[in-house]
Amino acid sequence: MSAANEESGNNLQRPLAGGIIPEQEVVKTERRWFWTVRAALGIIVVVITVTAATNHLHPPSNSQTIDPALVYQSREFSETNLGTAIEPDGTAVVRFIAQQYSFVPHCVTLPADTPVVFRLTSADVIHGFLVADTNINTMVVPGYISEVRSSFKTPGDYVMPCHEFCGIGHAGMAARVRVVSRESFPLLSATERLRCATK
Ligand code: CUA
Repeated sequence: MSAANEESGNNLQRPLAGGIIPEQEVVKTERRWFWTVRAALGIIVVVITVTAATNHLHPPSNSQTIDPALVYQSREFSETNLGTAIEPDGTAVVRFIAQQYSFVPHCVTLPADTPVVFRLTSADVIHGFLVADTNINTMVVPGYISEVRSSFKTPGDYVMPCHEFCGIGHAGMAARVRVVSRESFPLLSATERLRCATK
């Protein structure tokens, strides 16, 4: 191996005695990757900070707590308080309990073009809450109340599957959200709102 050959071309591909790459080459490569990853992380942090400040894009981070053993006895998640309720300011608040292996209630009706607040809690293990075809997606962790704000433009039925493995019946755990027009919602009875007994 000539000295000229050693100086030209890719250092990592040059034939070496015993096939061993010299330490300074390894250190150089590792340093390069260290700074590449650091730069990538820096860009990610900047993007998260800028979108949070300018577009209010925050991960769901409600931090209200609740005793998971007393969910059904609690005032907020008692049986008569589940489903859709219209607040004085016009917001639709929907309350669900996630449990092995169903959401209670199984289906709720909501008005379109209305601010919606979903409030969920778990009575046992961790479940996942998402509404198909929307950006609604969060975990339901026992001991905490998950809250997601959204609104629906298009009336229709939206599937609401559990997306966190929660036990043997996980695959069958799903509920539905039925969105009806803003005008027809007040005409529904409380039972129709809770059980999707419309159409
Ligand atoms: Cu609940 Cu999977």
